[in-house]
Amino acid sequence: MRSLRGRLILSHVIPLIIVIPLVGVALTYLLETQVLLASSSNELELQAALVAAAAAQNPQIWYNPVQAAAFVLQVGGRLSARLMMLSADGQLLATNDPAYRDQLGEVLDVPGLQETVLTRQTLRVDYGERPGTGAAEVLMPVIGPTFDVIGVIRLTDPLSSVYARFPRTRTLILWVLAGGMLIGVLVGWVLAVDLARPLRRATRAVSQMAEGHPLSALPEQGPNEVRMLLRAFNALTEQRRDLEKSRQRLLANLVHELGRPLGALLSATQALVGGAAQDVALRTELLEGMEGQIKLMRRLLDDLTQLYDQALGPLELARKPVAISLWLIQELATWREAAQDKGLHWQTDIPDDLPELHIDADRIRQALGNIISNAIKYTLPGGEVTVSAGTGAKDVWIRVRDTGIGIPPEEQVRIFEPFYRGPSSRRFPQGMGLGLSIARDLVAAHGGRIEVESTPGVGSTFTLWLPVMLDYSQN
Ligand SMILES: Nc1ncnc2c1ncn2[C@@H]1O[C@H](COP(=O)(O)OP(=O)(O)O)[C@@H](O)[C@H]1O
Ligand SMILES: [Mg+2]
Repeated sequence: MRSLRGRLILSHVIPLIIVIPLVGVALTYLLETQVLLASSSNELELQAALVAAAAAQNPQIWYNPVQAAAFVLQVGGRLSARLMMLSADGQLLATNDPAYRDQLGEVLDVPGLQETVLTRQTLRVDYGERPGTGAAEVLMPVIGPTFDVIGVIRLTDPLSSVYARFPRTRTLILWVLAGGMLIGVLVGWVLAVDLARPLRRATRAVSQMAEGHPLSALPEQGPNEVRMLLRAFNALTEQRRDLEKSRQRLLANLVHELGRPLGALLSATQALVGGAAQDVALRTELLEGMEGQIKLMRRLLDDLTQLYDQALGPLELARKPVAISLWLIQELATWREAAQDKGLHWQTDIPDDLPELHIDADRIRQALGNIISNAIKYTLPGGEVTVSAGTGAKDVWIRVRDTGIGIPPEEQVRIFEPFYRGPSSRRFPQGMGLGLSIARDLVAAHGGRIEVESTPGVGSTFTLWLPVMLDYSQN
């Protein structure tokens, strides 16, 4: 009974075991007392009426004991009840009741006889009505041709003859009970099997997942609760698949991104060891190159640190009111240099009346920096990078537009996934594929969002929206 199947069957059968016998007993009782006994009494009265009618048609039998005996023999043989012919003053003329056979001709003390004769009405005593007798009885006056009572027909039916019919009803009810129980077990079993199947499938899938088999979604079938479980399982599978994907990308990017600067560093050190240190100009050049590579690795590590921090817990923002126009103009100055170093045209369009924002300036600097550095990185020399800003209904927007390589539509969602790098960006330097994912999380923590529009070969526009009205209780 520890399995779902056993319990379900039990839960179907227990009410049956308790309820059906109770109902059965009550039903049998009602049926026997209210229906069967009553109908037996009715039947008895009907028989009495027929016998009385027959006896009235042959009045001579009432005066001839031999004919009376013949009549009782003939009629009584067809009755289930005992028949008695009594004269109006109670003398027993004939009977087929063995108990009275030796009282033939005697005057019996039959209760109600006189009443029947006087009132000329049928007297009926139902089962159990007269204590001690245990039988139903009908006394019916027989009216002669001269309209006086020539005798009384008495029919008695002992309860035993009625009870003889009860076992049949009882067996029937027992069968119905047993049938009901069997159906209960079957229904419980079918339901349990139906319920257990998807659960078992889910369990199997979870074990397979634990053993490291490839993950597949399960069909969401079965009762609502099971379906919810399966849906949750599928969501979990999906999440695990994403995690696995980003783990693979992380490793691939790490190997790639660490390998390149390490290779450069190794060549430089080998050159230095091999005697290049003697040449002052060459040494300086090599050392500067090495410094550059180390800085690249440093930036890589910064991104990873950010990711590590985010993995540790929710982002905590140190919000302060920031005059965004002034702040932006200062921030952009540092990027202008990087853009111009690469030979890009740098333009800015920042209105000086942008509203004050409550933000964590360091985090927004990082988010904006990731977007601007991408614009610079993915735009070829001679191209253009423009940063503008403005206010919407409830937000301030900051827009970074470039005339770079662009992003194909199908990649525009994926570029925000951690470690995702577009295939065409492989030929561009340094990148873990983390910049946009970090930027999106930082901006989202401020209640804002980042949108991208891009046409491959033409350029990309990233717009960062920051809400002005903020629910400060949030952070
Ligand atoms: N301004 C841009 N122009 C073209 N492609 C871009 C631009 N910004 C981002 N991308 C694409 O999005 C990918 C993810 O960007 P990011 O998360 O910053 O990673 P990374 O710069 O390290 O590659 C990049 O690899 C590149 O394919
Ligand atoms: Mg980047």
